[in-house]
Amino acid sequence: MKNYSLLFVIIYCLISGCNPKESTNTAINETEDALESRIDSILSKMTLEEKIGQTAQRGKSSRVKELPEELKDAVRKGEIGSFLNIMNKEDAKELQRIAIEESPNNIPLIFARDVIHGFKTIFPIPLGQAGTFDPELVELGARISAIEASTYGIRWTFAPMLDISRDPRWGRIAESGGEDPYLTAVMGTAYVKGFQGEDLSLPTSMAACAKHFVGYGAAEGGRDYNTANINNVSLHNTYLKPFKKAVETNVATFMTGFNDLNGIPASGNTYLLKEVLRDQWGFDGFVVSDWNSIIEMIPHGFAKNEYQAAEKSAKAMLDMEMTSTAYQNNLKTLIEEGTISENQLNSMVRNILRIKLRLGLFENPYFDPNSDILYDQKHLEAAKETALKSIVLLKNDNNILPLKREQRLAIIGPLADAPHEQLGTWTFDGEKEHTITPLLSFKKDSIYNFKYSQGLSFSRDKKNAGFAEAIQTAKNSDIILFFGGEESILSGEAHSRANLDLPGAQEQLITELHKIGKPIVLILMAGRPITLTNILDKVDAVICAWHPGTMGGDAIKEILSGKVSPSGRLPVTWPKEVGQIPIYYNHKNTGRPVVPDEYVHMDSIPIGAWQSSLGNTSHYLDLGYLPQYPFGYGLTYSNFEYSDVSISSKSIKKGDTIVVKATVTNTGTVKASEVVQLYFRDMVGSITRPIKELLRFKRVALDAGASKEIEFTFNTDDLSFYGVDKKWIVESGDFMLWVGKDAQDTTHELTFVIE
Ligand code: NOJ
Repeated sequence: MKNYSLLFVIIYCLISGCNPKESTNTAINETEDALESRIDSILSKMTLEEKIGQTAQRGKSSRVKELPEELKDAVRKGEIGSFLNIMNKEDAKELQRIAIEESPNNIPLIFARDVIHGFKTIFPIPLGQAGTFDPELVELGARISAIEASTYGIRWTFAPMLDISRDPRWGRIAESGGEDPYLTAVMGTAYVKGFQGEDLSLPTSMAACAKHFVGYGAAEGGRDYNTANINNVSLHNTYLKPFKKAVETNVATFMTGFNDLNGIPASGNTYLLKEVLRDQWGFDGFVVSDWNSIIEMIPHGFAKNEYQAAEKSAKAMLDMEMTSTAYQNNLKTLIEEGTISENQLNSMVRNILRIKLRLGLFENPYFDPNSDILYDQKHLEAAKETALKSIVLLKNDNNILPLKREQRLAIIGPLADAPHEQLGTWTFDGEKEHTITPLLSFKKDSIYNFKYSQGLSFSRDKKNAGFAEAIQTAKNSDIILFFGGEESILSGEAHSRANLDLPGAQEQLITELHKIGKPIVLILMAGRPITLTNILDKVDAVICAWHPGTMGGDAIKEILSGKVSPSGRLPVTWPKEVGQIPIYYNHKNTGRPVVPDEYVHMDSIPIGAWQSSLGNTSHYLDLGYLPQYPFGYGLTYSNFEYSDVSISSKSIKKGDTIVVKATVTNTGTVKASEVVQLYFRDMVGSITRPIKELLRFKRVALDAGASKEIEFTFNTDDLSFYGVDKKWIVESGDFMLWVGKDAQDTTHELTFVIE
């Protein structure tokens, strides 16, 4: 497969409005000082009520057709600073007109929306996008999302979600970059750049929002909204890393999490919002709460009432309140009583105005209603390219894939033709009428002889009424393509699952089909890893397509047919069973790490055995210590070999740059792409370090027989960690490096010493 992404990005940016030269805006030409003076001048004219108004974000229920008069009135009085979910363009324009023409200081509104993985053209879910290991392509997808969403006046998206997600039970893993801080940070940077464009003030740029600050992904047991307990060292070394990177990429806004972090809810957490975000990292954008998360500090047991909740959030420097009205109802009293200073409120409003100014909203408050750009051919091509690169081939026994042209196909399963389901979570604006399902893609193509029997009507369907027909279809075929997984509603916010097997009667149907004796290819569409232990030996090949979005069907067909070799890699460890969770590659070693030869399975324990520490290592008696598939894993239709793996020096001084080289050769018979991964381990530290950490990665496309030298460059600072003395340090000592195919590959090992 050709690596078109970079070229694609450059050409597309040139023609699509991310060229800074196209800016007609005056705000961007202002120096930061001039911008601050302008804010001073606006602030000096605002009443206390108007200032409080800027901190309010309101929504409108989609069930209410008309724009309520009270909302218009509130805007007229300057009581609202932002809206979310206004999806009628005329409503947005009217509200903006009132703000600009009739409100006391003519301050524009900012319209926000969850544009998470596409607006109309839907890209794969973020977990799938992370699996591309292709940040340029992810940036392009975010750029396209901004171009489409801004035609509705949406200049602020609640993305990217940067929560490290190590528990696939948590439904929101779908919206994440997976388990690794480096990969999540790289992808987060790509989203921020893509959404915000070259210049925030361009009409096609959207302010990005780094969310959820922080620890939401560590919810206990993967139950959404649950408590997170993360020690300070892990917080900085793992959970905060992608957020810090987002600040370095000039992300415009942050959103606090719903969760309680170490006893302090994120929305009232002064340490996070003030000390870390503002004082240490110098963030100068604004922070919005999550939906009602300020008043949810009451059930958390952290605030007695709305008044106290408002006080705690404002003191922590949370600038804008989403949907609830604790600020609106209480800030005035809090200031009049002297509990909060007006200066504190001024800082909050200043942060909000700064972003509105940088967005150019004061100069260009309205938007271009031209929707011709929606579903533009180039957008669809980029969505297909992203889906193609996100698809992970997990199993391919006897090279059953790619399909052979003469094979008669049985297309079976609840997700072969489920246009809404393949879009995935957070796709309020995607329209299923535009979705290319796998079935549709096969229909468009005259190459294959196939027959379709759904077997089950939806992923949770427990009825076997369709089994007989599906079995008959399978009997008349040479190979069975089973499209299974989970519907889009089974992942995402508030959709945690305790059991990660295929839902409904999918396993039963696969078991019945297996009895026929024809090869089975399982194509999974899901928002998370699915545990396959019960059926893995009944299928010959497995493809994980995540929820692949609008163009998923074409992408899947091109992978199945071999037009393109699979090249996605797992951004998250894939467990055998839920009992192994949490399971992630970058864990600590323990004092009794696993020794493979000494592992004892429970079936090998003699009956009546005397009490002993069997095997003496950290493992499960029944499931062992390995996952089903490791982080970074993914097969291709080819083979790759690495040779000449070298390091620039084995003895390094702090501050030095290190170069690791490897030659990668495609030893197979077809063109394919490899994701070469570089991991390191700091062997001994003043605090214990993970057994492996991803340091760099590179995607490389190679023709059959071709070789390429790959070079990874890093600095000793990239090996630093946050220690108990609350400082980032690089310690002298021994390090190991691995250049490999995935987190479990230890074939090519290097060592070096930092003096
Ligand atoms: C709640 C979610 O947690 C957050 O991610 C989202 O952006 C807001 N609701 C707005 O829809």
